[in-house]
Amino acid sequence: MKVGILGAGAVAKALAGGFLKHGHDVTLGTRTPAKVAEWAAQNANAKVASFADAARFGELVVLAVKGTAAADALRAAGAANLAGKPVIDATNPIADAPPANGVLKYFTTLDESLMERLQREFADARLVKAFNSVGNASMVNPQFPGGKPTMFICGNDEAAKKTVVGILDQFGWETADMGKVEAARAIEPLCMLWCIPGFLRNDWVHAFKLLA
Ligand SMILES: NC(=O)c1ccc[n+]([C@@H]2O[C@H](COP(=O)([O-])OP(=O)(O)OC[C@H]3O[C@@H](n4cnc5c(N)ncnc54)[C@H](OP(=O)(O)O)[C@@H]3O)[C@@H](O)[C@H]2O)c1
Repeated sequence: MKVGILGAGAVAKALAGGFLKHGHDVTLGTRTPAKVAEWAAQNANAKVASFADAARFGELVVLAVKGTAAADALRAAGAANLAGKPVIDATNPIADAPPANGVLKYFTTLDESLMERLQREFADARLVKAFNSVGNASMVNPQFPGGKPTMFICGNDEAAKKTVVGILDQFGWETADMGKVEAARAIEPLCMLWCIPGFLRNDWVHAFKLLA
């Protein structure tokens, strides 16, 4: 697939690496191409462009920017360039405040997630929450002694979720579909839980698994 990735941080680069590894075409969108010059030199088969050009390029779009900038990044990408497309939303609504005893602060509430806000504003984009509940180092084909980890996803569009499940299969995950966009109220805080061992004990190597 042609994949347009909005972002130039650790997550954007990790996911871009995964898409390239699995034979997809990647364009990374950023406001500051200089930031990814080294990465681009090492990944000559990927392109670097603006948010708008990356979104236009993608049959699948990935949102991987700072949570406080997520809406601005989608505005810069342009609603028309996102319309009808699956958009993987890997963001978390982390506030610009330090964690309390290892617990991140969010700028959202348990009654309204970031993804709901984004889906409301970009009604024609087919948002799917995914990749927000694990560290970037474990996003692509992670190897855990406990087996395949579970990626919790949600979104309103069934076809978009099917596309994302296909990507997660390639990236070595089992998927737990938690339903519609409101489920992001529960999936976004998984990042808080995931980060606690990191902040408290510098343990950043783990992932969630749903047992049934
Ligand atoms: N780090 C992880 O392991 C991890 C794991 C799961 C989920 N997440 C989530 O994934 C997202 C990306 O995380 P990250 O660690 O890769 O990087 P980050 O530092 O949270 O975000 C970096 C990106 O945000 C963009 N950005 C910042 N301010 C902006 C603004 N005002 N307007 C538009 N874009 C802006 C930057 O764009 P420019 O390049 O144009 O400057 C850059 O590409 C976050 O929401 C994070 O919570 C992170």
